[in-house]
Amino acid sequence: MMPQSLGDSSPEEFRKQLHELADWIADFRQNIESLRVAPDDKPGAIRAQLPPQPPEEGEPFEKILADVDRLIVPGLVHWGHPMFLGYFGWTTTAPGILGEIITAPLNVNAMTWRTSPAATELETLVIDWLRQWMHLPKDFDGVVYDTASVGVMHALAAAREEAAPSTRKRGLVGAGAPVFRIYASEQAHSSAEKAAIALGLGEENVQRVPVDAEFRMDAAALREMIAQDGQRNFQPLAVVATVGTTSTAAVDPVPEIAKVCHENRMWLHIDGAYGAGFAILSECKSLTDGWSDADSIVVNPHKSLFVPLDFSVLYVRNLERLRRVFTLIPEYLRGDTVEAQKNYMDYGIQLGRRFRALKAWVIWRSLGRTGMVARMREQIRLANLLARWIKTDDRFELAAPVSMGVVCFQFVGGDQNEIDRLNSQIVERINAAGRAYLTQTKLRGRTVMRIGLGNVLTTEQHLRDAWELIQKECSSAGSPMVRP
Ligand SMILES: Cc1ncc(COP(=O)(O)O)c(C=O)c1O
Repeated sequence: MMPQSLGDSSPEEFRKQLHELADWIADFRQNIESLRVAPDDKPGAIRAQLPPQPPEEGEPFEKILADVDRLIVPGLVHWGHPMFLGYFGWTTTAPGILGEIITAPLNVNAMTWRTSPAATELETLVIDWLRQWMHLPKDFDGVVYDTASVGVMHALAAAREEAAPSTRKRGLVGAGAPVFRIYASEQAHSSAEKAAIALGLGEENVQRVPVDAEFRMDAAALREMIAQDGQRNFQPLAVVATVGTTSTAAVDPVPEIAKVCHENRMWLHIDGAYGAGFAILSECKSLTDGWSDADSIVVNPHKSLFVPLDFSVLYVRNLERLRRVFTLIPEYLRGDTVEAQKNYMDYGIQLGRRFRALKAWVIWRSLGRTGMVARMREQIRLANLLARWIKTDDRFELAAPVSMGVVCFQFVGGDQNEIDRLNSQIVERINAAGRAYLTQTKLRGRTVMRIGLGNVLTTEQHLRDAWELIQKECSSAGSPMVRP
């Protein structure tokens, strides 16, 4: 755009830029493997190369794109790189990129049905597709948020309102609410605490329940903790059960937990941010045991179901329970609010909302259920293959059962503190070298390495290359005692 002109770029100029951008995107995807997975810059190095003053005059797009190439791309960890094996190894896909691109020019606000009829109805549709894939009963309906952290906060707000009606109006003190307690396993994600902070429930009132040998919540311990809290004048409010924990993708015993919740009239929230998506696989159907007894369940299709970040769905049994907590129609929106239609602004604190459903609709139509299932089976196959390689090398052992696309393992033998340091060092050295990226976590106080498979570009050969890097790194990091 000419700096001095008003309005938008000319149609001709825009078309030319789009063509250039199409090539840029296609080249980026095609050449991604030639990039370092993670940069080797020192903190602040990228910013130091960018002018600190805001631009006074407009600049040509070509110049901006050149800076993206020169400064931004080399300064990123490339989560879409086939050797990115960190976290849950989520994926970028060509149809996902297309979905994001189509969303950009529309730039609508999906706050009410009237302000965005198709965005609202498509959101309802994709939420229902996912509900079917997850075998959730029809009385579950949902809303799309950005993240699971936001999802659990809304779920607990609904739980709080049911346990202390009128908290919404008068606040916890005004409503005479007791001190509520929330329970989540030692392996559960910290988003439960964040939600408690935001909702005025108090971080310390999230109680961590011990786990069994396979990192699943111990339901007997949960029952005991609830009973003890009841005697100490705390009011047990909710349990967050996890399907696919952050470190090991462990699955809590939901049916048993549901029973405890039922007996104590507590809200059951299932954190299926990563794992719930695997319910789409017929062989994982048992994952869904107990889900129909839950009050809410969150799933992040951006983690396991191929949708680009961000896209998280919170399902609530009888969604009206969530609407009651958050519906509020300011006068200036009354004309744009058709009460008989779904107005997604009513289901959370956000008013303005991106049209996230479009990219989900594009990717899910492009891959179809069978395309997704085939890719997820391949992730699981690769995870199990890696586990076999680990088992055949005496210097390593699995640190947790392989679950979904997650493998936790450690370099073993020798002094424990030294071994922890070595495990951490191996991950850091591999990541610093830029050829692969993995993460580390702590299990029972021990540092372990962790690989997450989920990227559609990651092949068996990539995994083999990563495994060889780990083996090589471990040989040069020092040789702790080999297991007898
Ligand atoms: C089990 C689990 N729950 C919740 C979250 C938080 O997800 P989000 O980043 O969408 O808030 C994560 C993040 O990895 C997770 O692993």
